[in-house]
Amino acid sequence: LLGRWLGAPVEELDTPALIVDLDVFERNLARMADWSRRTGRAVRPHAKAHKSPYVARRQLELGAIGITCSKLGEAEVLVAGGVLDVLISSEVVGPAKIARLIALARQARPIVVVDDAANAEALSRAASAAGVRLPVLVEVNVGQNRCGVEPGEPAGELAARVASLPGLRFAGLQGYEGNLQHVRSLEERRQRCLTSMDLLDRSRRAVNARGLATEIVTTCGTGTHQFVGDLDWVTEVQPGSYIWMDCDYLAVEGTGYEGALSLVTTVVSRQRADAAVVDAGWKSITIESGMPQVKGGLFTYAPAGDEHGKISAPDPAQLPALGARVELIPSHCDTTVNLHDHLFAVRAGRVEAVWPIPARGRVQ
Ligand SMILES: Cc1ncc(COP(=O)(O)O)c(C=O)c1O
Repeated sequence: LLGRWLGAPVEELDTPALIVDLDVFERNLARMADWSRRTGRAVRPHAKAHKSPYVARRQLELGAIGITCSKLGEAEVLVAGGVLDVLISSEVVGPAKIARLIALARQARPIVVVDDAANAEALSRAASAAGVRLPVLVEVNVGQNRCGVEPGEPAGELAARVASLPGLRFAGLQGYEGNLQHVRSLEERRQRCLTSMDLLDRSRRAVNARGLATEIVTTCGTGTHQFVGDLDWVTEVQPGSYIWMDCDYLAVEGTGYEGALSLVTTVVSRQRADAAVVDAGWKSITIESGMPQVKGGLFTYAPAGDEHGKISAPDPAQLPALGARVELIPSHCDTTVNLHDHLFAVRAGRVEAVWPIPARGRVQ
């Protein structure tokens, strides 16, 4: 059904349609791959931004060492799509999820994170009973104050506990400073990132002091990876948004990545003098990170319900006519992608590929 869009001019796409500028997307991929080559830090891109094995495979082709995902459900979709090296960056807790994790470990190579000894013990019992050995990272709180054991000795203690448990293999540390990714100033972001990295390094030393190797130390996203290029104990980074960027991230100083994602909408009503109404509201584009920007800079967007948005202009005479296209730049790429079934990949004004987003909605 979707094949009919291949080769079509972008103006003909039905809307709302999430589109990717392929030239920009490929430049973003190449930029990250180049950074990795130059610095020797591996990249395990986060699939939470795209939720699609199609995009993951492009990242792997360019040298990514595996894929990170937030939820087990995302990992299951990636594995079904042939992506077998998956790091699940959120704790897997409870019998239902652990059973699914073990099933996944029989067909692929998942890596899990823990921040609690009881959870590690539950994973150990399930893995031992199934005869599988799960690689486990200890998650460290490096400043986000969300998940993760406290840095230093608590991290070392949990690592030793994991290493002592049958069915588990202690593989290293995860310490993600999600609180810093959108700090606007480059210098402030750098300073605060290096403070977080000190906490991670202290944790690594506490682990190593117990005779345990940290084969993996994973950290950083799009906004901060550039600061750890010369920290040789950081083995890898897990950026997600760099492939698309969104207008919130585009306002962050000095990331170097370009906007590749937009939502094409259509003006469906012109009954108000002060606004053009488009066919995209809360169910098509998210606003928790601020308002989407209207491409071109002339207009502004505000949601007007589940399925509608209002386009305003300083001079209402400039408002687009009924049937006109209006392109929005999402303010939060991850949650906007999660609302759509497909990404339309566009080059030189034509649809070159249609990528399904099969992990959308996979929050379990
Ligand atoms: C654990 C973890 N790692 C990496 C990322 C990727 O971050 P970004 O999209 O800012 O590159 C996220 C994003 O929320 C995350 O939660």
